[in-house]
Amino acid sequence: MSKITVAQSAGFCFGVKRAIEMAYQQIENNEKTYSYGPLIHNKEVTGDLEKKGLTIIESLDNIFEGAILVRSHGIGKALYDALEEKGLPVVDGTCPFVKKIHSIVKENHDANKGIIIAGSSQHPEVVGINGWCENAAKIIETPEEASALDLQDGAEYIIVVQTTFRQSRFDEIVAELKKKKIHLLVFNTICSATEKRQAEAVSLSQNVDKMIVIGDKKSSNTQKLVEICRKNCENTVHIETICDLVLNNFSKNDKIGITAGASTPPAIIKEVVVTMSEAFDNAVQNLGGSEEISF
Ligand code: F3S
Repeated sequence: MSKITVAQSAGFCFGVKRAIEMAYQQIENNEKTYSYGPLIHNKEVTGDLEKKGLTIIESLDNIFEGAILVRSHGIGKALYDALEEKGLPVVDGTCPFVKKIHSIVKENHDANKGIIIAGSSQHPEVVGINGWCENAAKIIETPEEASALDLQDGAEYIIVVQTTFRQSRFDEIVAELKKKKIHLLVFNTICSATEKRQAEAVSLSQNVDKMIVIGDKKSSNTQKLVEICRKNCENTVHIETICDLVLNNFSKNDKIGITAGASTPPAIIKEVVVTMSEAFDNAVQNLGGSEEISF
């Protein structure tokens, strides 16, 4: 029988859920709160929070009162210092796993070791991490960039990695760096939630006819899921909400897999699953994920 299988790890991770709960708590308490950058890459959630009173800012320049919510991506040390100087209270939604990277980077930078970050230099999490070594990190995304890095022979370096980075690519980067004449300490800081989500995406996409990946187009971890699924299943579609789904591209006999990025709310996942199952009269197998998306 054809069926729809929903990945256990689809949707909100612990860190994102925690930051969102903090935001709603602040609003409920009627505290004027600013979010330093959009809380997550999801228009539905950020739109709802803005409607309820959370204001997104990109700079502290004109902010003299109210609390500042730090999103799960975290921020650099200079920003904490600026907040303290302004006397603005901080509601710290930095994911504890990201905080851990900050302390690794700070400690090793203070010990005069060179810092290498595997990740996207534009990603707010990487920008924040770099802010714990005075923006002195070498940031690379590919094995080719790792190979081209100009590092000092005999010197000590550490490498940390963006929590949502692809494990296989990180392994290739580390392998390249190990060919150099440096002392390298490797901190695999890829989040287990990400690893699990990506591993599930691999096995699910290998066993279905069609894959649906749900998540904001700007969400890097969603994009990585799409990349992974496309490798195994050429019929992979990336949608933000049910509105993007072309039902005609699916048929009753398809085996369909569904997963979603870390910033995709349960309600959006549920809507897709329920619509698909009603349209094709398919049985749904939930691999045991969030209760909010159980059927
Ligand atoms: Fe934290 Fe991992 Fe999510 S680092 S924000 S729990 S993907």
